[in-house]
Amino acid sequence: MNDAKQPLPTLPPVARYDRITIALHWIVVVFVIGLYGSALIWDSLPRGPRKSLEALHVSFGLLFVVVLAWRVYWRLFRRAHLPEIGNVAQRLATALVHNGLYIMLVVQAVVGVCWRIAQQEPLALFGLFAFPEPLIFDKATRRLLGSIHEYLGHTIAIVAALHALAALYHQYVLKDGLMQRMRPMSRSRH
Ligand code: HEM
Ligand code: HEM
Repeated sequence: MNDAKQPLPTLPPVARYDRITIALHWIVVVFVIGLYGSALIWDSLPRGPRKSLEALHVSFGLLFVVVLAWRVYWRLFRRAHLPEIGNVAQRLATALVHNGLYIMLVVQAVVGVCWRIAQQEPLALFGLFAFPEPLIFDKATRRLLGSIHEYLGHTIAIVAALHALAALYHQYVLKDGLMQRMRPMSRSRH
């Protein structure tokens, strides 16, 4: 028998999200870190730079609305469906965290836009143009929007950090290859 003619053994294919899902996941991560980080530091700045950073938060926030809309559309209608892993409790926790993150991000984006309008500050994209602001909110609603945006911002940061820790736990403790599913820049079937 001639071993040289035998095909090389191949590793079983690793289930991976499609390229768009992976790209959108990491783009959203960068946006969330930037939006949250900017809000954490502007309080320590003098008024001028603080106002500029807030305007930047809003401009990137408006871009984030577009990215998030795409992400949600892709998740609902286009993404590759991967086999679920873990026992029933783990699957439930994963579904809760992932869907919870999507819902919180959407609410955060909508409330952010409404809050800016309620503040009667320009809803502008990098100073290039400003969206018309037709809605009028009273003072109480404005305060409520502010509180929701603030507390939800912290909640998103905590849940996302726990989610990231869980991913690292899979990677380095369980070593079950879960991170591979969301890893950028390796070959994918889509
Ligand atoms: C995941 C996305 C986002 C996160 C984590 C986030 C987080 C935050 C946080 C923590 C604050 C500070 C709240 C405070 O201390 O009072 C803030 C303020 C604000 N955010 Fe966001 N935000 C996000 C998206 C957006 C979006 C999409 C918009 C609108 C386009 C927006 C508009 C605003 C406005 C207008 C403020 C108030 C600025 C001021 O004090 O005048 N945010 N955000
Ligand atoms: C702002 C931070 C983050 C947010 C908002 C976020 C959000 C999400 C969401 C919503 C999913 C579900 C994807 C789907 O099924 O449609 C997901 C999956 C995933 N994320 Fe994140 N993520 C964040 C940060 C991270 C970080 C830092 C890591 C790695 C250390 C990570 C690793 C993963 C992995 C491996 C999956 C796939 C899990 C699976 O297939 O069950 N994420 N993420």
